Amino acid sequence: MSDRLNEIALALVTPGKGILAADESTGTIKKRFDTINSDSTIDSRRDYRHMLFSTPAMKDFISGVILFDETLRQSAPDGTPLVDIIKNQGAIAGIKVDTGAHPMTGHPGELVTDGLDGLSDRLKEYHGLGARFAKWRAVITIGKDLPSKDCISANADALARYARRCQENGLVPIVEPEVLMDGDHTIDRCFDVTEVTLNALYKALAEHQVALEGTILKPNMVISGSNCATQAEIEEVAEKTLQCLKRTVPAAVPGIVFLSGGQSDLDATAHLSVMNQTSGLPWALSYSYGRALQAAPLKVWAGNNANIEAAQRAFAHRARMNGLAALGQWRPELEQEAA
Ligand code: 13P
Repeated sequence: MSDRLNEIALALVTPGKGILAADESTGTIKKRFDTINSDSTIDSRRDYRHMLFSTPAMKDFISGVILFDETLRQSAPDGTPLVDIIKNQGAIAGIKVDTGAHPMTGHPGELVTDGLDGLSDRLKEYHGLGARFAKWRAVITIGKDLPSKDCISANADALARYARRCQENGLVPIVEPEVLMDGDHTIDRCFDVTEVTLNALYKALAEHQVALEGTILKPNMVISGSNCATQAEIEEVAEKTLQCLKRTVPAAVPGIVFLSGGQSDLDATAHLSVMNQTSGLPWALSYSYGRALQAAPLKVWAGNNANIEAAQRAFAHRARMNGLAALGQWRPELEQEAA
């Protein structure tokens, strides 16, 4: 593995910075735009993302941005490629390369992620377009008798094959095995499923000879199911998430960046900050949030470019709060401060 991959991975977890996940597929971004009654068009998607990437606070709190294929090829109205805007903010451009989670044959209620066909060629092209890291998301569902061993191992194997191809093509793979928070399961059930999933992932990465120094893990936090009657407190989430990660994630991994997964903006920030108050962890712990960074600015923007500055302030505020959380320095009273 080249030292370059390790350098990129370390840059993605620069202290006090994290990743903006802005890689919603066309279908997902439409769902987000529906919540603000705005049409999702190629131009409105470009305007919205251009608004995020040109926010001045990106420089201080965002190490990398995960893009969808369409965005990697788009330019601002003045002709500047969006990738260059990201680079000028001191951030690294990344690209989502899976083609989505699809129903798994013979496993009702379970999903397996596709996208290995032609992947090496796409990675070469993405590298040429300026991407230096990639993302692949696997989805593990908790339910009665779910997840199955087959689902966990099929997804781990695909993640490892993807990671290997990324490294061969000079991109750092973000490996994302997301155990969904949907359901009424307890935090302990989430712990057990996350532990089994991460063990399977690191076994597969070893089998495929992926150099862990040139990877980043993007996991869920260990958390109560969203419909569980008893919701675990912030300290319990932080403690159980760290315990699960210490059991499963080798110290050679430079960084772990959490997904927000449907947590409230404040929970996602608070959980990360409490975890980062523990010293002596083997890996950096930061964020790769989609919704927890974008929900506030999306609402303020509301599809109207007259709201760009206000939306940028909303984004800057969440980015700063999460930047502080990545240092273990966030406090609830800071939420009252204007960005
Ligand atoms: P959320 O933070 O909204 O879960 O999105 C992160 C992501 O990239 C999911 O793949």
